[in-house]
Amino acid sequence: MFHTWRIRAGAVCIGLRIPPQKSGVSGDRLDGASTIARLGKTVIVTGGSGFLGSWLCDRLLKEGHRVICIDNLMTGRIQNIQAYLSLPNFTFWQQDIINPVYIDEPVHQIYNLACPASPKCYQADPVHTFKTSVIGVMNMLELAGRHGARLLQASTSEVYGDPEFNPQSETYFGNVNVYGPRSCYDEGKRAAETLIREYHLHRGVDTRIARIFNTYGPRMRYDDGRVVSNFIVEALKGEDITVYGDGLQTRSFCFYEDLIDGLVRLMHASSEVDHPVNLGNPDEHTILDLAERVIEMTGAKSRLVFSDMPQDDPHIRRPDIACAMRELDWKPKVPLQDGLARTVAYFRQDLQDRGATEVAG
Ligand SMILES: NC(=O)c1ccc[n+]([C@@H]2O[C@H](COP(=O)([O-])OP(=O)(O)OC[C@H]3O[C@@H](n4cnc5c(N)ncnc54)[C@H](O)[C@@H]3O)[C@@H](O)[C@H]2O)c1
Repeated sequence: MFHTWRIRAGAVCIGLRIPPQKSGVSGDRLDGASTIARLGKTVIVTGGSGFLGSWLCDRLLKEGHRVICIDNLMTGRIQNIQAYLSLPNFTFWQQDIINPVYIDEPVHQIYNLACPASPKCYQADPVHTFKTSVIGVMNMLELAGRHGARLLQASTSEVYGDPEFNPQSETYFGNVNVYGPRSCYDEGKRAAETLIREYHLHRGVDTRIARIFNTYGPRMRYDDGRVVSNFIVEALKGEDITVYGDGLQTRSFCFYEDLIDGLVRLMHASSEVDHPVNLGNPDEHTILDLAERVIEMTGAKSRLVFSDMPQDDPHIRRPDIACAMRELDWKPKVPLQDGLARTVAYFRQDLQDRGATEVAG
């Protein structure tokens, strides 16, 4: 049996009412009520306390929108949205999207980012991960349908699996194992795209799909097992850096600012962009290259140690972003070296705040 929840205008999250405090978003003054009255939309961000979701909330608040953040806090953190909790145009609702959501106020846009993104996290409860991508997405499509809102889905390059072609364009059907440890995520996201297509074509829901490639930056969790956070945290702690396989497999790393800009552009794109669009940085690197950059940047004395490749881990990964360049006038701007430097600075502070005994550099 499903639980249903109802959010009313002005409601604040259960048990997380933070006393009013002076706060802005990254130094910008946000006068919520008056700004919304002038130009704001009401925008739901599911997964809004996670890495990407919280930066998306940041961007939308700066643009003067009313933001309703829905998150079950499974991998998200309140500290990511702490600065927004006291704003009149921000509401946090602790809720799992596998349960239906009803809202008693107009909703204009829904960004559906709810879903753990790192293999370590999505494999912790694979059934729940699959439910999030199928039942959760269906609940958000129903919500969008009731409100006439546009829904943008955070899909993933994992729909291409371990690709046979490089770069991967949107027309590639992928090479995904349907019966492996990554399937709960990969197949869940593929099923979500199918659902979105059918709700769009047969139920008239206005939809957009972003196929996001590896994205990194501040607010990633230090312990979520993704390669960028793993390498930086290991280097800063002076530990050996663990490389899976021979390290010659490739990834293309996009800084979060570029990715958020792509998501917002896609949300505002014309109705012709109702097909999946790749968003990622086509600048491809081997995992060994990433490890060496991190060691150099942190000044760590870490050695590289090699361990087995996890099952079904992709060997190559590079987005073909021709579609995003043409239809969204978008391409990433932040070079890997600059994004890494900002991410290293973030983790250095994060580890010090956590009381890590030694932080290199
Ligand atoms: N970061 C990347 O490199 C990347 C790449 C491809 C796709 N994506 C997609 O982007 C989205 C955000 O990724 P992220 O990197 O910020 O991950 P994240 O784990 O930091 O954020 C996911 C958020 O969703 C919340 N969540 C998970 N399941 C939920 C549920 N059932 N109900 C409500 N909230 C739930 C988590 O608590 C968390 O706050 C995900 O959908 C992910 O699949 C991310």
